[in-house]
Amino acid sequence: MANILIIYSTTDGHTRKICSHLQRVIENQSNRVTVVSVIDAGEFDLDSFDKIVIGASIRYGKHSPEIYAFIKENSQALDSKSNAFFSVNVVARKPAKNTPETNPYLKKFLKQISWQPKILAVFAGKIDYQKYGFLDRFMIRLIMWMTKGPTDPKTNIEFTDWKQVEEFGRVISEM
Ligand SMILES: Cc1cc2nc3c(=O)[nH]c(=O)nc-3n(C[C@H](O)[C@H](O)[C@H](O)COP(=O)(O)O)c2cc1C
Repeated sequence: MANILIIYSTTDGHTRKICSHLQRVIENQSNRVTVVSVIDAGEFDLDSFDKIVIGASIRYGKHSPEIYAFIKENSQALDSKSNAFFSVNVVARKPAKNTPETNPYLKKFLKQISWQPKILAVFAGKIDYQKYGFLDRFMIRLIMWMTKGPTDPKTNIEFTDWKQVEEFGRVISEM
């Protein structure tokens, strides 16, 4: 049995939902999983975990500053154990941009940080226009219009491939 810490950064809760799904999959393989926001992750002793997974969503082209700061402060601890990183964004709904090798955000992110995660994944995120404020709704609809995605203001859609999330959970169990 491994003791696994999953740290997430989310704005609208979708990355946390992916982490909860991962937790169920990984616990079903007889592991212990703790899921925590990057905001509270400093309260945990990283050395007490066997594996660390970090997941973060993209907002206006970037992962959150808290994720960059956490990785910078803890890159040695991260490197010393089995680890993985995943990014959540809606560009990944496109088959040509849904792998670590082809997703532009993940590729850029890896060049910006000193940590090189041992396992990587990209998951397509969610769009729920009704949940966003006026400006965010306008901007995301504009981006969707430019990239041939849904623009109906009532759109509430999860692009996430949950089977892909489950497969990633099994990879974490085995890493
Ligand atoms: C204000 C806003 C900006 C976003 N910017 C991007 C972006 O630049 N690129 C992208 O692929 N997805 C973008 N997204 C989509 C999010 O990555 C997607 O909704 C994801 O599921 C959010 O996860 P979270 O709820 O964990 O934050 C954006 C979403 C919002 C609401």
